[in-house]
Amino acid sequence: MIIVKTPAEIEKMRISGRMAATVRDEVAAMVAPGVTTGELSEFAGKRIKELGGESAFLGYRGYPGQICTSVNDEVVHGIPGPLEIEIGDVVSIDVGVRYDGYIGDTATTVMVGVTDREVIHLVKTTEKALYVGIAEACAGARLSNVSHAIERTAVEAGLFVVRDFVGHGIGQTMHEDPQVPNFGKSGKGPRLKAGTTIAIEPMVNIGTAAVDVQADGWTVLTRSGRPSAHFEHTVVVCDGRAEILTLGQE
Ligand code: MF3
Ligand code: CO
Ligand code: CO
Repeated sequence: MIIVKTPAEIEKMRISGRMAATVRDEVAAMVAPGVTTGELSEFAGKRIKELGGESAFLGYRGYPGQICTSVNDEVVHGIPGPLEIEIGDVVSIDVGVRYDGYIGDTATTVMVGVTDREVIHLVKTTEKALYVGIAEACAGARLSNVSHAIERTAVEAGLFVVRDFVGHGIGQTMHEDPQVPNFGKSGKGPRLKAGTTIAIEPMVNIGTAAVDVQADGWTVLTRSGRPSAHFEHTVVVCDGRAEILTLGQE
């Protein structure tokens, strides 16, 4: 069941979304050689608390981190720890904040002195796919138009969307209906209604869509061993353009 939010609920999600975006951008700015992913998570936990929210991830189905940090061939759900970031790394930072019962979920991918043109192309294309998808998330449009636009952007760039993990409705719980795949034919699925809140989150690979979950039960890895990229915004469907609830300050 897709829950359409009231204006008061959307206002709470504006607050949690802004908090998540702030922490995402602050953590992204901290990513540098020698910093550990555990340090990024610890900082994020402190900032989320200072801003008046709580991590939506910590304890979610037993998840042990304040945020997800996914480095290189880690696609999503990487667990922060002693891993030191190095020059050439591709680091996805995924932040979820709950405020007054409502969640904002957002991710970005940072390149640390990456010179490999294929990897730069991957990261740029994934970010573009996110915005192309958001542009389709208008009231009255079919849900799969979002999915299709994301897939088309990746495929036209010679890249592959991950199929095993998808975007999602979001609100009082992190993963609500509807699922928002990053692939599929257009013109399918329910028509989007104004007030529906969804997290749109392309995960894009080089060479193959295939991924595997590591033995820790969380970390998703590319089967190719090549890097992956992930960008995510929480948006509210509107008459006209969707409102992005997790935009940064710029
Ligand atoms: N933020 C992820 C998503 O975008 C979910 C993370 S669940 C966690 O859907 F438990 F790993 F934090
Ligand atoms: Co997320
Ligand atoms: Co999400």
